[in-house]
Amino acid sequence: MTMLSSNSVDRATFESFYAGQAPWDIGKPQGTVAAVADRVTGPVLDAGCGTGEHALFFAARGHRVTGIDFVEEAIRRARAKAAERGLAVEFLVKDATALGDWGERFASVIDCGLFHCFSNDDRRRYVRGLARVVETGGRLFLMCFSDEEPGAEGPRRVSRQELYDAFADGWEVESVHPTRIEVHPEFTEVKFSEGGPKAWFAVVRRKG
Ligand SMILES: C[S@@+](CC[C@H](N)C(=O)[O-])C[C@H]1O[C@@H](n2cnc3c(N)ncnc32)[C@H](O)[C@@H]1O
Repeated sequence: MTMLSSNSVDRATFESFYAGQAPWDIGKPQGTVAAVADRVTGPVLDAGCGTGEHALFFAARGHRVTGIDFVEEAIRRARAKAAERGLAVEFLVKDATALGDWGERFASVIDCGLFHCFSNDDRRRYVRGLARVVETGGRLFLMCFSDEEPGAEGPRRVSRQELYDAFADGWEVESVHPTRIEVHPEFTEVKFSEGGPKAWFAVVRRKG
């Protein structure tokens, strides 16, 4: 699973993950995200939604939700889950680094495992695009691998300072807390920290 790189993780790498058991695809929302559900208002964007568990979770709570991912197979599975569960979610194949020309606006964005996929340049493109699609006063709920997770396998590690730097202009970082990412129990290829990879959970507010 060697992924750690200062380049963005490319689409082909994610396609190969979805051909097997993707470690993050646990069939339910991450507990850390579910725990802040009461703070999430609609409309909601799930950016890098994968097979859609977070998008579907917020749709089940009555929000209007859009999920985007650049892997067609992930979106195909997300749409199939929505149909099975009788939930209306708009799932789109879309590149999250090119949101700037999109006419949609969101009150909340969920980023569970997307930000840590990006190079420094793509981080900037992504955050610029988010600034266009997040309403003033809207919030980004972001979970990423932390630099406190040892080893060099898996996604790029992100420091607390990098989060503050990425959202320095036009945003207020309201909180950054340590948390853990839940990984599928059948994924044993990489030994992460006991209790799951160490992560940050950030809440970031769009200023006017
Ligand atoms: C670690 S997975 C997390 C998936 C999902 N959020 C979850 O928690 O199960 C990261 C997801 O981001 C998607 N992704 C990565 N780069 C992307 C990009 N530039 N545009 C859209 N999706 C992207 C991948 O295809 C993958 O589904």
